[in-house]
Amino acid sequence: MKFNRIIAAIIGCLVLLALPVSAETPILEELMRKYTFLLIFLSLAGAVAGIGYLYITGLLPKAIFETWRWIDERFALHRYVSLAKREYYSVVYTLMPATGRTMPQSHTERYNVKAVWYWYPFYSLGGLSFFAYIVLAITGIYLGFYYIPDGVMVPVDPEVPDGEKTSGAYQSMELIMTQVSFGYIIRAVHHWSAHFMVASVFLHMMRVYFVGAYRNPREINWMLGSILLMITIFFGYTGYLLPWDELGFAAGSIGLEMATSIPAIGPLMAQIVFGGTQLTGDTITRMYWLHIFVLPLIGTILIIIHMALVWIQGEAEPH
Ligand code: HEM
Repeated sequence: MKFNRIIAAIIGCLVLLALPVSAETPILEELMRKYTFLLIFLSLAGAVAGIGYLYITGLLPKAIFETWRWIDERFALHRYVSLAKREYYSVVYTLMPATGRTMPQSHTERYNVKAVWYWYPFYSLGGLSFFAYIVLAITGIYLGFYYIPDGVMVPVDPEVPDGEKTSGAYQSMELIMTQVSFGYIIRAVHHWSAHFMVASVFLHMMRVYFVGAYRNPREINWMLGSILLMITIFFGYTGYLLPWDELGFAAGSIGLEMATSIPAIGPLMAQIVFGGTQLTGDTITRMYWLHIFVLPLIGTILIIIHMALVWIQGEAEPH
């Protein structure tokens, strides 16, 4: 009965949100446009207050248990969880019993230590880099629906051929920022996740260095990681150019100068990376294909191998 009422309330809310406030704008979009940050803040505050209430009243464990029971009753998830757990831990006994290497068990788990080592949070940086990568992929797919990789400069006013110039790429960015539903939020999330990923990959590398985890037997993973760092930076660079605004153009000029200044193979490098020795529409076509296909393909394969090696070799013990 209670459940039916909740379903009815949810359907009621959905109908309300679908109703247009004016001729064409749905209420949800109208609200998001006007009160984006207030709504995000209120949703977060509501979630924190709700969980806080359950915690204070002592109902939190029951709520978690009931939710799990409700899902488990329908999908028998406990079977898959215990199967996965068994497989996960069995590798160490079946594949490498003599090595003494563990699956990624935590230090406390392995030695049954009751203390918490203060460096532990730094061990989450690789996982956080992976999380940022997933967020970037999802938001990037959304942006890809609207972005146009056209870097050819055309006059803003066709009547004045020598006047101000723009490009299809820049115009599509303007469209995303002003017309596309949630476009500016998705672009902002993509932008900040990119910064977050560069920072977390770098800090992850420092963590690996300072605990000496790059040593035998993890040399290959260190080398793979170094390539991943370069890929992450190159992701950022190619993405920075895509809006083809003044910043992108300036960054493109610097990159092109750097590529062409390489002795002997400079022009070839410029051709491969920038599509020529001048910044033209071809530069954007190339940056776009690198950004949405070549780098994601190589990056995803390398990340899978990198994390599989951690899974096979286990986490290094701190030195
Ligand atoms: C896209 C970038 C990267 C992702 C998604 C990633 C992901 C991960 C994850 C999830 C782990 C296990 C948990 C952890 O230690 O944080 C790990 C471990 C490791 N990573 Fe990365 N990583 C990346 C870049 C790098 C870089 C730049 C380096 C070094 C140049 C590196 C070297 C290593 C090594 C040697 C380990 C094993 C550490 C140990 O056993 O304690 N990784 N990585």
